[in-house]
Amino acid sequence: MIRLFAALELPENIRMQLSLLQGGIPGARWSPVENMHLTLRFIGEVDQAVARDIDDMLADIREPAFSLSLKGVGEFGRKDGRALWAGVANGAELQHLAAKIESALQRMGLPAQQRKYSPHVTLARLRDVPMDEIQTFLSTHAMFKTPSFEVRQFALYSSQTSPKGSRYRIESVYQLGD
Ligand code: 2AM
Repeated sequence: MIRLFAALELPENIRMQLSLLQGGIPGARWSPVENMHLTLRFIGEVDQAVARDIDDMLADIREPAFSLSLKGVGEFGRKDGRALWAGVANGAELQHLAAKIESALQRMGLPAQQRKYSPHVTLARLRDVPMDEIQTFLSTHAMFKTPSFEVRQFALYSSQTSPKGSRYRIESVYQLGD
């Protein structure tokens, strides 16, 4: 079995800008800069044959390249703790690409994504961090914004989880074009 997700890689300068946000909350587990990505669709554990079919299906997607920028910060509360994230601006093309992948996966027979798609880049995972620390972080960085960057490809990532955190690897890359 292999744990997969489809995501955008982020340019080096954007990841550097994101890494500058990472501080000021004692006890936060900040995402390593090399792990930063923007998920299009979490797929989860599949066997190798299904992984190959997913790869073929993603390779058949024809969508134009687009530009994107990151904007704002926020927080999700989840069963396994909280996450701090950076959001996106002008995400219509991103949403469209994510929806295209979602419907192609469903056509393959995979179960529909339960959560509504909310594009974000995870900055940190938090456990037992006081809410006022989180609020201070959110208000300090409320105006966060990156320059826009071109999205010319997306990728299929595998994830290996361990107590030390997740290791992500790019398995395939798919070009966007006109
Ligand atoms: P997260 O960073 O907000 O947890 C790999 O785990 C990627 O898929 C991460 O970007 C993660 O988002 C995202 N993801 C979406 N749904 C997930 C799920 N149910 N379990 C694990 N990761 C998920």
